[in-house]
Amino acid sequence: MIVRAQRADDYEAIRHVYLEAFRRPRFRPPRSPGSVPPEVPLFEALWEHGDAIPGLSFTALVDAAVVGHVTASRATVGADPVVALGPIGVLPAHQGAGIGSALVDALLAAADAADVPLVGLLGAPDYYRRFGFRPSAELGVLAPEPGWGDAFQVRLLNAYRASVVGPFRYAPAFAS
Ligand SMILES: CC(C)(COP(=O)(O)OP(=O)(O)OC[C@H]1O[C@@H](n2cnc3c(N)ncnc32)[C@H](O)[C@@H]1OP(=O)(O)O)[C@@H](O)C(=O)NCCC(=O)NCCS
Repeated sequence: MIVRAQRADDYEAIRHVYLEAFRRPRFRPPRSPGSVPPEVPLFEALWEHGDAIPGLSFTALVDAAVVGHVTASRATVGADPVVALGPIGVLPAHQGAGIGSALVDALLAAADAADVPLVGLLGAPDYYRRFGFRPSAELGVLAPEPGWGDAFQVRLLNAYRASVVGPFRYAPAFAS
């Protein structure tokens, strides 16, 4: 398995990964076969609006075929630029083999090297805790929706300062 920075010509393969990964998620009820999961138009809108960050988004390949992807996008906490993680997906046949973990690690390492203070996401605490994510409320970062509770998490990086507090705002694509 290789994880490398996303390339523009990965677009269709990444879209396929999100379609299949979120159509049959392991930890949620499956969606109906013909439906397009909302993570697919979210991914499309982030790319089209220029809010996805190519240098911090990563593609995983097995035998030269795209099997996973993680999207980094522009976000803010108060006036400070930060990064949002998501969507992230791995083709069902390749899940549970460490590919998702490698994608999260790659994004966090690249964001740290780029002096990003923190990365935020909405996801299962049982999965993201292992990467150092903590409920954002513990750190004074307010989730976009108060009802998200501990599922909205942040990972502090080396450039973090205690002054990075306030409401977390995703790129506009997340609103729809
Ligand atoms: C979540 C996802 C990206 C993880 O990728 P992966 O390659 O399967 O992950 P890894 O192999 O690195 O890690 C697998 C571990 O994560 C756990 N895990 C994965 N998703 C989890 C979840 N939502 N809640 C709790 N644990 C989860 C697995 O139980 C497994 O645990 P183990 O290491 O103790 O066996 C992948 O399962 C996926 O695409 N799922 C469908 C789409 C999705 O739900 N995306 C995340 C939205 S926040």
